[in-house]
Amino acid sequence: MAKYLINYLDKKSHINKNIYGHFCEHLGRLVYDGIWVGRESPIPNVNGVRRDVVEALKQIRVPIMRWPGGCFADTYHWKDGVGPQSERRPIANRYWGGSLEDNSFGTDEFMTLCEEVGCGAYLSGNLGSGTIREMVEWVEYIRDELDTPMARLRRKNGRDRPYKLEAFGIGNEVWGCGGQMRPQYYADQYRQAAHFINTATGSGISEMINGGKTEKTKLIASGPNHEDYHFTEEFMKGLTADSFMFNAAGCQIMADGLSLHYYTFPGRMDTAGGGFFSAMPVADQFNEEQWYQLLKTTAKIDEIITRHDSIMSHYDPQKTVGLMVDEWGSWYRTEPGTNPAHLFQQNTMRDAILAAINLNIFNKHSDRVKLTTIAQMVNVLQSIILTEGDKMILTPTYHVYDMYKDHQDSTLLGSFIENKQVGPENARLNQIFESCSVDAAGNMLCTLCNTSIDASETIAATVYGADVKGVEATILCADPHAKNTFDAPDAVGVKAWKAELTGGGFQVELPAASVVSLKLKAGG
Ligand code: AHR
Repeated sequence: MAKYLINYLDKKSHINKNIYGHFCEHLGRLVYDGIWVGRESPIPNVNGVRRDVVEALKQIRVPIMRWPGGCFADTYHWKDGVGPQSERRPIANRYWGGSLEDNSFGTDEFMTLCEEVGCGAYLSGNLGSGTIREMVEWVEYIRDELDTPMARLRRKNGRDRPYKLEAFGIGNEVWGCGGQMRPQYYADQYRQAAHFINTATGSGISEMINGGKTEKTKLIASGPNHEDYHFTEEFMKGLTADSFMFNAAGCQIMADGLSLHYYTFPGRMDTAGGGFFSAMPVADQFNEEQWYQLLKTTAKIDEIITRHDSIMSHYDPQKTVGLMVDEWGSWYRTEPGTNPAHLFQQNTMRDAILAAINLNIFNKHSDRVKLTTIAQMVNVLQSIILTEGDKMILTPTYHVYDMYKDHQDSTLLGSFIENKQVGPENARLNQIFESCSVDAAGNMLCTLCNTSIDASETIAATVYGADVKGVEATILCADPHAKNTFDAPDAVGVKAWKAELTGGGFQVELPAASVVSLKLKAGG
């Protein structure tokens, strides 16, 4: 029996709904096939986008979508993907297999998809092979109300009203595929680009003078990979040094976020050398030791966020610059018979546990983590949706997002669980990961996962500061290797679960390898 304490009176940080975001790169069968089938397709679609996918995204209330990359973003020139379909210039997708894309899915199609799903749009700008002018004009094309050349172009392409642009990233992985830059050099590049993009959106200096009347587009800097603390230190130093806009006006004017990428590989890339990707096991190939190793590796993100946060806090103690984990998730060898450059992988119950661990950790760090986008939405890496022709399946990871969705825009509560360590000597980790939040109506959501592959645990929870009047639980639990396939799409799915009210809280069992969510009704 593990004791679990939830302090209803200890209201911590706001859980930004964008922590539950998704990533949509032009990679493999994500955009073409997974989302975009075209208006003439026999597959039911809404303006060319698969209807089944749109409905599935709405169900989990996807709050934000990042597009068009990834590495692809720093090769992408947005003007090639707007206007009449027959006049669009094709692009060779150089990073991901070299195939030619006809650019039929471009800015207007992406922005329309976001409107259909009801989520925010997060664009990754091309700093690597593009120009500041190109990024500024992209923002103008989307946002301009006045009769500017870019607004005219948008209107000519059939869209009168501006779109809403929630976030704009200036480059991606600038230390690697985004241009092999040093953080010091990038900090200056970022400042210059951010200044002019802010000017185009009416933020920055114009906001200070005009009194902040415009709707803000958040600017996100490309950030460190994994444990590259040097990058964070040097970038934050460069961002803030001698900066009128940072120091006098508040740092959020210069940057709303710094991205962090952390992928969970089954093995260590730094010691494996070349051939690492082809030598990795596929998603459902693991033994007990590898189960724990992978989960321990993913849980390291807790320490990684803590350390990046503490460096950022030296320069930004008010935590106005969010840490945006805009690429994370499992990365395995691609499924046999598929193009290795397309990164198509399956998704098992182990990935559901991995997602549950990460989302609980992100909630706990919601004072600094303001956005995350798991990689990647459909048919690539740790996807929530897989498609094959006109068929679509939801992966175990999708179900975790469904169970956790009520954390969006709620408030983190203080909580503590009595934990055991599980796993072999070289891969020991906490048995339970949890987080608990309260919504505007005063009701709570607690999400817990059990990382033990074979031991269940009973949780005896005490809720301090509120009477719990009702509890409703759901569970995701299956054989650790279980996955959904096109022949058996419901092998792993959410079910109702039994939880009992006790004097001051509740009691619930967490079976081995399970994710449980509990909705608690609070009274007086
Ligand atoms: O998600 C696949 C790739 O991983 C992205 O394009 C890149 O940003 C990262 O290295």
